[in-house]
This record gives sequence, structure tokens and C-alpha cells, in this order.
Amino acid sequence: MDAISVIRTKRDGGELTAEQIDWIIAAYTRGEVAHEQMSALAMAVFLNGMSRTETARWTAAMIASGDRMDFSSLPEPTTDKHSTGGVGDKITLPLAPLVAACGAAVPQLSGRGLGHTGGTLDKLESIVGWRAGLTAEEMLDVLRETGCVVCAANERLAPADRSLYALRDVTGTVESIPLIASSIMSKKIAEGTDALVLDVKAGSGAFMKTPEQARELARTMVELGTDHGVRTRALITDMSTPLGRTAGHALEVRESVEVLAGGGPEDVVELTLALAREMLDAAGLASADPAKALADGSAMDHWRRMITAQGGDPDAPLPASRERHTVTAQEAGVLTELDAYAVGVCAWRLGAGRSRKEDPVQAGAGVELHAKPGDSVTAGAPLLTLHSDTPEAFAYAAQALEGAVTVGEAGDFTKQPVVLERIA
Ligand code: URA
Repeated sequence: MDAISVIRTKRDGGELTAEQIDWIIAAYTRGEVAHEQMSALAMAVFLNGMSRTETARWTAAMIASGDRMDFSSLPEPTTDKHSTGGVGDKITLPLAPLVAACGAAVPQLSGRGLGHTGGTLDKLESIVGWRAGLTAEEMLDVLRETGCVVCAANERLAPADRSLYALRDVTGTVESIPLIASSIMSKKIAEGTDALVLDVKAGSGAFMKTPEQARELARTMVELGTDHGVRTRALITDMSTPLGRTAGHALEVRESVEVLAGGGPEDVVELTLALAREMLDAAGLASADPAKALADGSAMDHWRRMITAQGGDPDAPLPASRERHTVTAQEAGVLTELDAYAVGVCAWRLGAGRSRKEDPVQAGAGVELHAKPGDSVTAGAPLLTLHSDTPEAFAYAAQALEGAVTVGEAGDFTKQPVVLERIA
């Protein structure tokens, strides 16, 4: 077997054999296939797709590239959530402690930013002292102590995905149904959770731009999970506009703490509760009431304990950017559109994202929204505040917003539900 023949098969639109898939994933993990060869294969998959059979085998090969975790020693059922990635998607932050407060154990392995979307680990790292890298034993200790843990997948969990994920981020090969499905599900199946809820985003700020693509991705992942004995279901949710009022690491932590304190933006609260109910139901805890756990402070208690157990100081001030730039409304009316992708690219250019996989991110960088679709705006009023440590980034970042904001009449706006569809 050699990498070039595998690349050629997929480049020419052929179906990869099980042996080809097993070999290339294992050889890439051992470092015997070069990154440039894997990049070429990822691009060939991106362009020519993979069948259900190939995707299932690719996922199994990625699981087999490392270890599987085991939480069966915990008394509580384990339940987890994974989002396909969006702009302003900070839901994991309030959700994990909320579901733990309702009696489940939440082992949440999260990732870093990918393309124009922010990563949960990058967000939490804006909390002084907080550590994403835990050993399997530390992860279990935090789970036992606090009921929830959010951390990086350790190096032995689906290591093939670890390398491929970083490679896809910088080679324009993220938005592919088989690559996203196998990436997410290999980690989640290897993680060993009993139940899994997928938040599959649809819209400009998502990797899947249409509900049809999101539905196909959701079905592919639900099938992969179910075949591996994980109770899996999916919600397709709107990502045409950013979630909440912030996109950027520290800005999103601040907003998540507001939700845990019983406030926060309506859409973030609505989606957090919808996902919590699904996670609890999938874990056999349907009678628990997440709205009560948010209101009575028990979710906040779990958050504080989880942050502390991972070395963070929940009371430390969050980092703020050194410079700000305000974008104002050109005309008065109702904000009918605020494009999620444009805001994601803007935040990325302000320093919240990476151009190369080894780049650092700016904790304080990002975009703050002063109005959401449906809100009235007056001409000259602040619409967005851009945050960055590098003021020279403002002009380029603001360019991303050209055409992203539409102000019209009240009648031009129809409110979209946050949850578009459920797939089980
Ligand atoms: N999240 C992942 O873990 N992988 C992807 O490919 C996309 C989102």
C-alpha cells in the first residue's frame, strides 16, 4: 500500500477500500504518511465525497488509531453534546454544568477553533489558570468531584483526528460531510459516553449552509453513533446569525456566566435548555428540570467547581482587548439580517482565530453585537464593537462585514426558531 495510490483513487472519484482506509489512517498516525499527502487526500475527499461505507470505515479507523475511554465506574449516566461549530457558539460553557446539576455526568471533550468558528477550549483558556490538558485520571477525578469536565481529547484518543483536524483547518478542507461526521463521531465514540446529543448548525455561519446539508450530516452522525451503541440524537439549529451577543473567547465566557447567573441572551438560554433536555432525556433523566437548575444557582455552583478543579479562578477578571472600534448603523429601521459568517470572519481577523495551526489566539479579541435581528436601530447608533490588541487589524476585519448588515422595515423580518428540526 502507498499513499499516492490511495490519493489517486479518491482524486479520480473512486471508492476507497477498507484496506486502503485502514492503512492510510494508521500510517498517517504513525507519521509515515506526510502531511502534504494527507492534505491532498483530504482535498480529494472534500471534492469527491465518501460513501456511507467509506465514512463508517474511516470513523472506525480513526477510533482504532488510539484508546477508548471508560466511564463505567461512575454511578451517574454519562451524556455529552457536540456542536458542529458556529459563530458565538458558547453553549457548552453553561450546558455542561447545567446538565451536571441535573444529575448526569458530562465528560465533554472539546476542540479549538476551526476555520471561522471559535473553539470551546480557546474560550475557556481565557480564564486565568484554567487547564484544557488533563490526563484520563484527572478527567475522571474532575468528573467525580463536580459532575462535569470540559477538556482537550488526550493524545491517545483518536490521534488520527487530532492531526487531521489541525490539517483541515489550514487547508480549506473543513466543510465536508464525511470528514466532519467521522471527525466528531470518532472522538465521541472513543470517549465512551452513554448518550450523545449533536447540535448540527445550519446557515451562513455553519459549515453546513443549508438545512438539507445539515440534515444529511445529522443523519450520518446519528447512524454512526447508534451503530456503535451510543444513544445519539441531533438537533438542527439556526446559524444564520451569531448566537448571543458576542463572538470571541473572553467575551463569550462573560456571556456564558451571565446565562449561569440566570440572565443572558434569549437565544443562548433557549438553546442551552433545549440541548440540556435532550441530553437528560437520552441519559434516562427526563424528569430533571434544567430551567430550575439555572434559576436556583445550582448550575452556577457546578461551573465554579469545575473551573476551580481545572486550575482556573472563576472570580478572576477576564482579559480585555487593548483597543476597540465601533461600527455604527447607517440608517434607522429594523435590523433584518446580521450575517453569522461575516461576524465569524471579522472575529477571526481581529485575532480570535488562527492562520496556522501553531498560532496563538488573542483572548480578548472578538465582536460584540449591540443589536440582533428583529431589534430597532437608529442611524449612527453603535451596532457592533470590534475588540483587538492589534488596531491595524480593524480595517481588514471591518471589510468582512461589508454587506453583512441589513436594515429594513419591521415587516421585512420574520423571527427564525433557534431549533429547526430534531433527528433521532
Ligand atoms: N468539529 C469537529 O470535531 N470536527 C469537525 O470536523 C468539525 C467540527
